[in-house]
Amino acid sequence: MSKRQRSGVTSEEGQMPRILVLNGPNLNLLGTREPGIYGRQTLDDIRAEVEALAGTLACEIRFEQFNGEGELVTALQGARNWADAVVFNPAAYSHTSLALRDAIAAIGLPVVEVHLSNIHARESFRRRSVTAEAAAGLISGFGAESYRLGLRAALVLVREARTQSAAGAPRSAPKE
Ligand code: DQA
Repeated sequence: MSKRQRSGVTSEEGQMPRILVLNGPNLNLLGTREPGIYGRQTLDDIRAEVEALAGTLACEIRFEQFNGEGELVTALQGARNWADAVVFNPAAYSHTSLALRDAIAAIGLPVVEVHLSNIHARESFRRRSVTAEAAAGLISGFGAESYRLGLRAALVLVREARTQSAAGAPRSAPKE
């Protein structure tokens, strides 16, 4: 039985993986926001690059950005109805938000946390990500490439989950 059958939602094992790419506060200002740290690419530029890669990797993506913590919690919860995995840049909430950490732990989907900058090479308050502690993994420090690596990692996790689910699925009764 697939995870989706178990959870009563929609996607089928054979269909294209669906990945939610979710962005937190202030990432809407990329392009002009501290370009020495985050570069000159806008979030729309990153979205276009991720969509182009998704086309070559045969997966569907939704790309969203919210400034509010509650909106991000709602988006993560909503991902259960559509996505197979989430690529998530929680931005500053990475360092503070137990609500987002709990949402990641609650939804039962693989979440790959991504950061443009290397959070371990910056101020000490950025070195801990409480959200990454609940995620499947963390990619940090490669600029927009972090998102593309995150998408690839998410697809690996979806494939693994599907393989495991197929291996554990009850076989149909032999035909008489
Ligand atoms: C960020 C790193 C965070 O520390 C910061 O608050 C951000 C962006 C990144 O992508 O490098 O807003 O998540």
